[in-house]
Amino acid sequence: MRKKVTKAIFPVAGLGTRFLPATKSVPKEIMTLVDRPLIQYAIDEARAAGIKEFIFVTSRGKGALEDYFDHAPTLEQELRKKGKDELLEVLKDTNMDSGAIAYIRQHKALGLGHAVWCARRLVGNEPFAVILPDDVIAAEKPCLQQMVEAYNETGGNVVATMEVPPEKASSYGVLDVQEDMGHVVKVKGMVEKPPVGKAPSNLAVIGRYILNPSVLRSLNQMKSGAGGEIQLTDAIASEINGEHGVYGYRFRGQRFDCGSKSGFLQATVAFGLARDELRDDLLAYIRDVVHLDRAAE
Ligand code: G1P
Repeated sequence: MRKKVTKAIFPVAGLGTRFLPATKSVPKEIMTLVDRPLIQYAIDEARAAGIKEFIFVTSRGKGALEDYFDHAPTLEQELRKKGKDELLEVLKDTNMDSGAIAYIRQHKALGLGHAVWCARRLVGNEPFAVILPDDVIAAEKPCLQQMVEAYNETGGNVVATMEVPPEKASSYGVLDVQEDMGHVVKVKGMVEKPPVGKAPSNLAVIGRYILNPSVLRSLNQMKSGAGGEIQLTDAIASEINGEHGVYGYRFRGQRFDCGSKSGFLQATVAFGLARDELRDDLLAYIRDVVHLDRAAE
């Protein structure tokens, strides 16, 4: 029997400079798609995949995240007094069992690999998931759940992947494929942010991982890689010839890059359209805008 994946790391230490001035005082993970913060989508996905322990790797200025997942007695009391049961229900998703959530600080911005390494003692010696909240994935079956199912078959290390246009590959970790089995690919190499034209394939790594704890041991070496940062991609790549192996998993779903303004806006529209109470109004507005745009051409 494979050990169950019950712990997930959420690297949330980034400064979010692409969203300044908003992120001067609001962690970017608290920015909302419709009415739910980015981090809520990540937590919902983790819960659906059976995750029970949530490890946040934070930095200075991320206090709002801790408050968000705390109980809010005054607010709850007020809502109860006013009989606003539906709002109390909405708040339930923000509550964590005592001890289910842990915060650890990354004191220096040394890269994603370093952020994950900071959580090593909390992970211990079991497989764990990593979720990058910037990558929001709309899917019928949540992406991490799909991956856990794949992992139950493959074991080893599983990274989410999707095809990207060749000119975009240099913004991602990219897989070198040994064997393509459809949804699952066996990986023989991984490169973080390859120079333009040098990517080994157009299969990009997307921010969902299920990893063997031996990845943490290779992170111990603190080797810096692309951009002078300690890269998670490099640590996973060092597993390829080890006992566990690395697999890419082509998930079913639509991924939004909410680390970019354009991706964030697209996700806002997509999640807005998915809400019954907003769909008609939003659609009418989008039709108007497109119509005006065409008329101006
Ligand atoms: C990180 C990873 C990269 C991955 C990407 C997915 O990069 O290092 O391998 O492809 O997330 O979003 P970042 O976007 O943080 O530069």
